[in-house]
Amino acid sequence: MAIDYQERIPNNVDLSEDRRLQRALEAWQPNYQKWWQEMGPTEFQTHEVYLRTAVSVDAKGWANFGYVKMPEYRWGIFLAEPEAERKVNFGEHKGEAAWQEVPGEYRGMLRRLIVTQGDTEPASVEQQRQLGFTAPSLYDLRNLFQVNVEEGRHLWAMVYLLHGYFGRDGREEADEMLQRHSGDPDKPRILGAFNEKTPDWLSFYMFTYFTDRDGKYQLASLAESGFDPLSRTCRFMLTEEAHHMFVGETGVGRVIQRACELMKEHGEDNVRKMGGIDLPTLQKYLNFHFSVSLDLFGSERSTNAANFYSMGLKGRFEETKIDDDHTLGDALYPILELEGEKFVTNQDNALTVINERLRDDYVTDCDRGVRRWNQIIKRQGINFELKLPHRAFNRQIGSFNLANTSGVRVSPEGEVITEAEWTQKHGGWLPTEADRAYVIGLMQPVTEPGKYAGWIAPPARGINNQPVDFEYVRLN
Ligand SMILES: [Fe+2]
Ligand SMILES: [Fe+2]
Repeated sequence: MAIDYQERIPNNVDLSEDRRLQRALEAWQPNYQKWWQEMGPTEFQTHEVYLRTAVSVDAKGWANFGYVKMPEYRWGIFLAEPEAERKVNFGEHKGEAAWQEVPGEYRGMLRRLIVTQGDTEPASVEQQRQLGFTAPSLYDLRNLFQVNVEEGRHLWAMVYLLHGYFGRDGREEADEMLQRHSGDPDKPRILGAFNEKTPDWLSFYMFTYFTDRDGKYQLASLAESGFDPLSRTCRFMLTEEAHHMFVGETGVGRVIQRACELMKEHGEDNVRKMGGIDLPTLQKYLNFHFSVSLDLFGSERSTNAANFYSMGLKGRFEETKIDDDHTLGDALYPILELEGEKFVTNQDNALTVINERLRDDYVTDCDRGVRRWNQIIKRQGINFELKLPHRAFNRQIGSFNLANTSGVRVSPEGEVITEAEWTQKHGGWLPTEADRAYVIGLMQPVTEPGKYAGWIAPPARGINNQPVDFEYVRLN
């Protein structure tokens, strides 16, 4: 399925065959461009950036690398190949042919799922818009912009579904995607984590590691959807998402590497003296980004989530690989809860706590990367381990939200503590104003090819087999 680049909107959905839809999307396109100019990267819009663009959607070779000015990036509509005779694989409609049109009775629910996912995509571009000023290298600057243009494309993906399958209310929702803005007090983005600031590059790497990974799990469960166009859209988005998490994992890994090198070189743990980011500060940022990302999975018990599953709209992670009946009528699933001051594992209906299952899959995945980070520390002969904090630590949503725990708090190690202890100790667990000021103070742009800021190690290799001193962004 080649992508048609002759069209104003590149696509592999035969857009020119559907004049109405084509006209509607072409009418939305200038509004998107305007949003990109106003809310996208604050600088470098006229510079050439070494970016990848999708040229086909098959597993290998879909990426074409070349210099592009961001506003000229070919945002378009790319769906994964259809699967022959695909079925609804779970819920009450299990075994029926997958839906090519929106089932009338699920219209509202499905639209809500698509809008919630779609809203996060432009939100992260808005959150990251200032970072170009302080990139630690041209390599990192390029990676930021790659993530940004692809989040823009993910918005296109969701807007295509809204325009193509939801008629007038879909078009209105697509317009509102450009009207809500991250952190806007009057019209904020839908989910809390997407209204937070991404004020520095350490936050950016943590965000792309932890929050883009939430995106991976949401997209993977939507890729199981019985609504086939949503499934195909999300399957292709996942291939792009992998790079975002790569930027996060290697970014944090390089900060760790640099901290360890400085510790060894100077025989001194406090690498702030040498302009590095110390491992305890990294742990605090990790604690923060992990806990806010856990909130994105929603409440442990959720009627909506149970309905999304039963209706066949949103599955579990790798649904078809799971060995059970895929309807979950009387299945049980364990859920960790606080009873008084003790954690207990209760069994509850697997449908009711389906959010918890996705969160568990996510936590397992997060932990794998933390172990790889610890390998970097170990290889340097340094005795320090990063850890994911306890899942009840610093939560704003669900049963561990302070409002639901009668005032008790939980430490990163999972000890139940009083509000007073929290007040006294949380500065050791989460970035303080002083930590943030220190990290922000390090953020000075490095724009010479092959040069890297002093708080981060160069990457092991470049993008698309280019050397690490390649001119990833042409500044002149
Ligand atoms: Fe995305
Ligand atoms: Fe992403």
